[in-house]
Amino acid sequence: MSTTPPTATTLVTSIHALDRAREAMTGTVAAVLTMGALHDGHLALVARARELADHVILTDFVNPLQFGPGEDYEAYPRDLEADLSAVDGLVDVVFAPPVEEMYPVLPPTVSVSAGRAGTVLEGAARPGHFDGVVTVVTKLFQLTRPHLSVFGRKDAQQLAIIRRLVADLNLPVRIEDVPIQREESGLARSSRNAYLTDTGRQHALALSRTLAAVSEAAPSTAAVLATLESARRSAPAEVDWDYATAVSPVTLEPITPAHRGLALVLLAARIEGTRLIDAAVVEASAP
Ligand code: PAF
Repeated sequence: MSTTPPTATTLVTSIHALDRAREAMTGTVAAVLTMGALHDGHLALVARARELADHVILTDFVNPLQFGPGEDYEAYPRDLEADLSAVDGLVDVVFAPPVEEMYPVLPPTVSVSAGRAGTVLEGAARPGHFDGVVTVVTKLFQLTRPHLSVFGRKDAQQLAIIRRLVADLNLPVRIEDVPIQREESGLARSSRNAYLTDTGRQHALALSRTLAAVSEAAPSTAAVLATLESARRSAPAEVDWDYATAVSPVTLEPITPAHRGLALVLLAARIEGTRLIDAAVVEASAP
């Protein structure tokens, strides 16, 4: 485990240079995968990675495969200088390859599929998105060869799918997660919160309050499902639910009252036109 900070952060942009840097690492290695535009959420991933491993590689790559037609791939914020100064001295290596280095042929001939789990919920609105995510994550794991990799719980569907990727393809990496960061009010931190008025922020608390009510309802599966149903029905008109559901963390299929075990509660709603997500894992292990 890391006790002293890395003295210098090295930027590498080629696979060859990454290989050399990786070979020089003697202890355990953590990978933090990002698309850049680094913010506090990413720094929490880096902090956890540093607690868990001797070396940290941060990847900074805007992956074209996970953007659909009409999505903001071209406009996605890119500021490598700012990213480098955000993690300077905190990670050993920043790997920021150009697109051609990652995809000499685009789209690649062979890619990875997230299966049905990638087609529901967030994936229903973004066809192909999770296939693009698992393809680049597989490539980045191959390239960085980490012992562990740290992801945020906020992108709960992505995290669940990456756990399946690692389990189903026997990838030799441990997945660690960090809790959702919340404001004092309970609202999950997100750069999108800045778009909300004070009234919108009040309405947005419907998400974290729903999670609190679901946690109280657990471990009764029936009560968890009833709480979600009542949240959907009783929310004010200003909370436009996209989904408020409890799913299996393995298949991402909605759970039924007969379900016994962990359930992933996933929420997405539009408030004042801004789409917010929130999530929690609960025990749903009783009638
Ligand atoms: O969460 C993200 O930023 C991206 O989906 C990831 C995991 C870096 C893959 O491009």
